[in-house]
Amino acid sequence: MSDLATTYMGLRLRNPIVASASPLNRDVDNLAALEEYGAAAVVLPSVFEEQIDAERHEVLSLMDAGSESGAEAFSYFPSPERYLLGTERYLDLVQRARKALQIPVIASLNGATGRGWVDYAKEIERAGASALELNVYFIPADLTLGPLDVEKRYAEIVGSVAESIDIPVAVKLGPYFSSLGAFARRLQRAGADALVLFNRFYQPDIDLDELALRHDLELSRKHEIRLPLLWIALLSGNLKVDLAATSGVESSDEVVKYLLAGADVVMTTSALLRNGLDHMATLVDGLQFWLDTRGYRSVDAIRGMFSHARVADPVAFERANYIRILQTFTAATHSG
Ligand SMILES: Cc1cc2nc3c(=O)[nH]c(=O)nc-3n(C[C@H](O)[C@H](O)[C@H](O)COP(=O)(O)O)c2cc1C
Repeated sequence: MSDLATTYMGLRLRNPIVASASPLNRDVDNLAALEEYGAAAVVLPSVFEEQIDAERHEVLSLMDAGSESGAEAFSYFPSPERYLLGTERYLDLVQRARKALQIPVIASLNGATGRGWVDYAKEIERAGASALELNVYFIPADLTLGPLDVEKRYAEIVGSVAESIDIPVAVKLGPYFSSLGAFARRLQRAGADALVLFNRFYQPDIDLDELALRHDLELSRKHEIRLPLLWIALLSGNLKVDLAATSGVESSDEVVKYLLAGADVVMTTSALLRNGLDHMATLVDGLQFWLDTRGYRSVDAIRGMFSHARVADPVAFERANYIRILQTFTAATHSG
């Protein structure tokens, strides 16, 4: 049988498939079931910077007052009871998950400014988390912010958290940077141990009947692997940080593709929400079967086969692929 064992940020994993942050992972029984079905590690749902702030500065009462008086900004916040977990309850979840599971438990902090994260990151470490994932969810809606301002903000957040705790730190980020490679290197210098590609930004729609914004959340589909696949292929082999793939894993095929591109681990949420927790076993078994039937001895034997680290001039390579795709499409249309 092929060996699925993997390491991620120095953590030893029995295979490369991780259950990423989702409401499912708020429940320790679900986490135990995921372990039973073969998950190599779990990421807890995020605790939000606004929760940490709110509890520290009693902003909750302000928000209540704000929404009653119709203050616009406050009305965008979810009501206090809709926050996922209070910060104390979050630490309790970390502790209970740590006790119940053998596999690594990765906690997740989600924010945009980094204020107050450091103390809380230390508490998460003390509660027993194996690692911390920082989800910097920040849309630069302030049109005066330049790219360097944005990147500086990320690097400062990562730097201040990474230097304050001993457990490894992963950074979950979106694809919308002008030079993702250089930025990835900057995050590496700031102390990141892994990058999680990519954060999905939840984009609003407009309901034409109600003339209101729609904030519904769509689960991902497998075609969404393509952008992270491209960037994992471009970054893998060129950085010291580990790479985790997240977005669009529906079956073990997507897991294999991400590994071929060079991912150290592959994460899944939508497929578990859609198909149930036991889908984890389908993914692990599918990966095992794919490797066994092709005679590969280990995951390491296929990891990075499609990495661009083996391409002499990646910029020209990407440009050539782009031109070929467009030209082939035109030719196919005319011949049909
Ligand atoms: C309902 C739901 C809740 C999520 N909650 C979080 C969260 O708390 N923190 C986080 O970093 N990502 C969260 N995510 C993002 C997932 O962890 C994952 O990165 C994303 O869904 C892409 O992976 P997928 O295509 O396998 O779903 C959530 C996703 C969904 C669908």
